[in-house]
Amino acid sequence: MQYLPIFADLNAKSVLLVGGGHVALRKARTLLQAGAALSVVAKEFAPEFVQWQQQQQVKLIGAEFSPELLAGHWLVIAATDDDDLNALVHQAATAQQIWVNTVDDQSKCEFIFPSIIDRSPILIAISSGGKAPVLVRRLREKLETILPQHLGPLASLVGKFRRKVQEKLHNFAERRQFYERVFNSEVVSLLQTEQADAAASKLEAMLEGHEPSQGEVFVVGAGPGDPELLTLKALQCMQQADVIVYDYLVSEPILALVRRDAELICVGKKAGAHSVQQEHTNQLLVDLALAGKKVCRLKGGDPFIFGRGAEEIEALLPHAIKFQVVPGITAAAGCAAYAGIPLTHRDHAQTVQIVTGHCQKDGKEPDWHSLSRPQQTLVIYMGLMKSAHIQQQLLQAGRAASTPVAILENGTRPEQRVVTGTLAELAELISQHQIQSPALLVIGEVVSLQQQLAWYGAHSSPTVFAQPIAQLN
Ligand SMILES: C[S@@+](CC[C@H](N)C(=O)[O-])C[C@H]1O[C@@H](n2cnc3c(N)ncnc32)[C@H](O)[C@@H]1O
Repeated sequence: MQYLPIFADLNAKSVLLVGGGHVALRKARTLLQAGAALSVVAKEFAPEFVQWQQQQQVKLIGAEFSPELLAGHWLVIAATDDDDLNALVHQAATAQQIWVNTVDDQSKCEFIFPSIIDRSPILIAISSGGKAPVLVRRLREKLETILPQHLGPLASLVGKFRRKVQEKLHNFAERRQFYERVFNSEVVSLLQTEQADAAASKLEAMLEGHEPSQGEVFVVGAGPGDPELLTLKALQCMQQADVIVYDYLVSEPILALVRRDAELICVGKKAGAHSVQQEHTNQLLVDLALAGKKVCRLKGGDPFIFGRGAEEIEALLPHAIKFQVVPGITAAAGCAAYAGIPLTHRDHAQTVQIVTGHCQKDGKEPDWHSLSRPQQTLVIYMGLMKSAHIQQQLLQAGRAASTPVAILENGTRPEQRVVTGTLAELAELISQHQIQSPALLVIGEVVSLQQQLAWYGAHSSPTVFAQPIAQLN
C-alpha cells in the first residue's frame, strides 16, 4: 500500500493554500466543504476568492509566499503554475513536518486527494496512487450510478439512533443483527420516497419490539476456487455471517471476501492430514447457532455434491435451527470448463457420471460396468489415491485403453494444471507429474476436445498443458 487512506477532520483547522488561480479554486472548494479554516496566499486572486472573503469563508493574504506563513497550519497545498514556487512550498512544509500536497506533481506530495463519492455522512474515497486516473474516474462513475442517494439520509438516521440502540441492546452481535434488519426493512423504502419522519418512527418501533435474533446456518458452496465463480447469494451470506466455518478447499482469495470481523474456524479435511471429525463439525454448527450466531458453513464446490452438506443439515434438524442452502459450482463443472473440456457433447458423450474415488461406507465397489460405458464422461472426485485401481477396473470392465483422460489439478485457480493422456496411462501420469490434491479425473472421449477448446481462464498465470507420458519418454 503506497498511501494509507485516512479521513481527516479538518473542521475549523487552519489550512494554507498557495495560489489564487483556477487550480487553487478547485482545491479550495473541497477544503471548504470539509469545513477547513482556509487562508490563501497569492499575488492575485480569482473573483470567487474575493467573494468568499466578503462572505468570511476564506482569509486572503496578498503577498509572496514565505516559509513563515506556514506557522500554525495543519496542511498546505501548493497550487500555483510556478514549479519553483511549488518546490519551495513543498520544501518549507516538509522541513516543518506539515503535510503538503503539490497539485499535478506527485513527487512533491506527502498526501494526495482521492476521488470522492459523497453520500454524506457516507464517503467513498478512491485512489490509484496517481497510476491510473482514468480507471479511477470510470470506477467512480460506476459507483455513482449504483449507490443510491438515500444512502446519506439512511446513515444519518441510524446515526441519530445509535445511542438508543446501544442502551437497549447490550452486545455487539445483537446490535449488528438489529442494524441488518433495519437495512432490509421498510425504513429504507420510506427514505427512498423522502418520508424521513415515517422512517424514523418505523425505526423506533423496530427497536421497541426488538427480540434477540435466532441463530441460523447458511450452508454455502464456494465453488472450485476462483472467487469470481462465487454466486451473489454466497457472497451475501459470507458478508452477513458472524462465524465462517470453512474447509481446506475454500481458497484464500475467497476467504478474503468474508465479513472483516467474522470469526474464522477451519474444519478442513485433507487426504492424509489431520482433520476435524465430521461429528465435531456437526456439533460445532449446532452450538454456534444455538448461541444465536449466524453461521456460514463454507464448502468447496457445491455443498450437496460430495460435500456432506446434507449430514450437517440433518444435525441441525432436531434443534429446529433455521438453515439455508446456497448451491455452488461443483468442481466437475468449474474445472472442466476452465480446462476446455465439455462434459457432454452430441458426438462424444450423452451422459456424465460423477463418482467419488473413495469406497462407499460398507467398502462396496461401484458398478464398474456402468462406469465403463462408451459415449459417456466419467468424472471422479478424490480419485488420486485409488487411480491404479480405477484404471484397472475400468479396463477390465471393457473401457478402451485408448480412452482419453485428463487430470485437473487445482482447477480454476492460478496454479491450475491439466495433464492429458489415455486410460492405459492414468496412474502413471499421476505419479510422473506428481499430481497433488485437489484433483479431478475426467475420463471419456470429450477429453479429446481439450487441446482445441482450452482457454486461459481468469488467471494471472496460464494453464499448463503437460505432455502425455508417451510423448515425455
Ligand atoms: C470432498 S470433495 C468436495 C467436492 C465439492 N463439494 C464440489 O462440489 O466440488 C473434494 C474433491 O473435490 C475435487 N475438487 C474440488 N475442488 C477442486 C479443484 N479446484 N480442482 C480439482 N479438483 C477439485 C477433488 O477431487 C477433491 O478431492
